[in-house]
Parts: sequence; C-alpha cells; structure tokens
Amino acid sequence: MKHNFGAGPCILPQEVFKQASQAVLNFNDTGLSILEISHRAPEFIAVMDEAIALIKELLNVPVGYSVIFLQGGASLQFCMVAMNLLPEGKKAAYLETGVWAKKAIAEAKLFGEVNVVASSKDTNFNYIPKNYTIPEDSVYFHCTSNNTIYGTEIHEFPKTSVPVVCDMSSDIFSKEFNIADFDLIYAGAQKNIGPAGATVVIIKDEILGKSGRVLPSMLDYKVHIEGESMFNTPPVFSVFVSMLNLRWLKSKGGVAEIAKENVAKANVLYNEIDRNPLFKGTTAVEDRSRMSVCFVMENPDLEKAFLKFTEDRDCIGLKGHRNAGGFRASLYNALPITSVYVLVEAMQDFAEKNV
Ligand SMILES: Cc1ncc(COP(=O)(O)O)c(C=O)c1O
Repeated sequence: MKHNFGAGPCILPQEVFKQASQAVLNFNDTGLSILEISHRAPEFIAVMDEAIALIKELLNVPVGYSVIFLQGGASLQFCMVAMNLLPEGKKAAYLETGVWAKKAIAEAKLFGEVNVVASSKDTNFNYIPKNYTIPEDSVYFHCTSNNTIYGTEIHEFPKTSVPVVCDMSSDIFSKEFNIADFDLIYAGAQKNIGPAGATVVIIKDEILGKSGRVLPSMLDYKVHIEGESMFNTPPVFSVFVSMLNLRWLKSKGGVAEIAKENVAKANVLYNEIDRNPLFKGTTAVEDRSRMSVCFVMENPDLEKAFLKFTEDRDCIGLKGHRNAGGFRASLYNALPITSVYVLVEAMQDFAEKNV
C-alpha cells in the first residue's frame, strides 16, 4: 500500500475507488457505465442533486446561498470572481499569501482595481499577515484559506463588513467554517472533494448581478445557478466520485469529526518536525497548515537521501513545491493517521543513521 502525501490530485478513500470502479462497469444497475450515461438521465440528475445536497448538509450552507459545480478549476475562479463581482472603476481588496493568491490578484486586475491590503511575500510567504485594514469601500475582500504550496493556513478570518471571497481549494471539508461569514467560496475538487475536473462554488445569491458587465454565459454564475449546474455537460464522472466521497465523509461523522482526525494527524507530524534535530518547519507556528505540512532539513545536503528513504517505505508525493523546496506532506481527509506514523517512523530511523 502506498502512503500518498501528494498535494492534489490526491488520495481519496479506498472504498470510493472501489465504488467508482464498479460504476465504470455498471452504474446503479442501469447496464450502462457512468462514463457513457447522459447527464440528462434521471439517474445522473439524482447524483448531481445528492452531491449538492451533501455539500449543503456537510457545510451547513444557509438559505440564500447557491451551490454549483463548474469546470475550469480554481484557476478559472480567479477571473470569474472579478468578472462577476467587480464593477469597472471599483476596488477589491486582496490578501497576498502565496502563488495562488498572486494569480488571483493578477486575474482580478484585468477587470478592476486591486488593492493588496497585506502580503507575506517579504519572507517567501511563511506566515499569514495580520492586523491589516480592509477599506470599507472595497467591493469584496479575497483571501486563500490554505496556502497549499507554502503550508500556511488562516485560522482566524478578519472581521469585516466587506463581503469575503475565499479560495478554499485545499482546506474545504477539512474543518468547520461558518459559511455565513463568506459571500463566495470556491474550491477545485481535486483535494478533499473528489477527482480533478469539477470546481465547487458556494455563492450568496444577493451579491450577484451588480457588476454592470455583460458576461459570456459560461462565465456567468447566474447562468450556472439557473441551469442547476447543467447549463452545459457537467464533468459527470468527477461529480459522481465527489458525491461518493462526500457520502464517505458523512458516514465518518461529517466535518466536525474529520477535523479532529486532521488535528491529530497534523500534531503527530509537527511534533516530530519540532523534536527531530534533522528537520525544521518552514512556517510561523501559529499559522501552520493542518493540510499542507511544509518542512526542510537542517542540512539540505541530506534532502535527496531522505526523499529516497521515504520512497523506499512507500511514502510518495513528499517533495516540496519548486517555489518552497524541502518537503510537503499533504494530510487530506482520506489520508489515514497510520500513514503519518509511517512517515514519522521514517524520520526517526533516518535520524538514527544520520545524526
Ligand atoms: C489554494 C489553491 N488555489 C488554486 C489552485 C489551482 O487550482 P486548479 O488547478 O483547480 O485551477 C490550487 C491548486 O493546487 C490551490 O491549491
């Protein structure tokens, strides 16, 4: 068995893989594969409805919000957010906490004025800026809840009367969020939701229709809300497997329960990073991510050998992003704590041989 610490696409539960593979051969006893069934078939409409209902239930989405499945990844949301929400000549506030935030900023600049209210780029994004001011006249404030590449996570969101837009691609469903604190949330599916190909967007309905911009249909949230995520052919397989994965999450006790496991997994690994003389964490302790644990070695010359050592123990996906270096262990929902124990044991055994 491989211990998949990859950043995304990433590990999903084994039972989801089994159910998905069965449905590739015969979906719901229809005699058809999930790969060939029409998205207009009642059996698939039921899948879409259940996936959306599960998102609403698991995240306690209040009345007045729509949940849709789109395509184009979180990256398309970088521009769709601004196109739909930011009128020309108006300002949006952005928090710059890493590569993904930078990309969101660059795309928004194509449609309006962007005010970067705070940034941690001075220290290669190893902390979350705090105590910044979000100007009251901002149309919205955009932030990235988990910085997948640098391993920082927002544990406390700023209190503001400005509508908050959040890229939750890499920590949605990992812990409880109060959805009512946000006006728009988006996430590429390929971490805690399901396979790549789908993007989930949760929108407070009342913020739409104010940009004064005529939008192409495919880039207009309203069109997708009215089309119930079926304005055009949705990514059928990705939505189906997301639904299976959300059912699995519900069967585990939902977000509150998985959050406890996620805290436990992160604690085990950070404790070893702090205890073991060979390793050190790269981020401010109070901003450490529970999903993306980034660390380096005190002696960088040992990093190649350690990576090989972990691979020999079937741990994969640990090489850090090229912008951050070192190592990154992604501890998404489906990664069992036993995999974290295997990694910790490898760190200890490697230290015994190399201290
Ligand atoms: C926080 C965050 N935002 C955006 C993206 C880009 O997502 P996509 O590849 O779905 O466009 C990623 C990808 O890893 C991410 O981690």
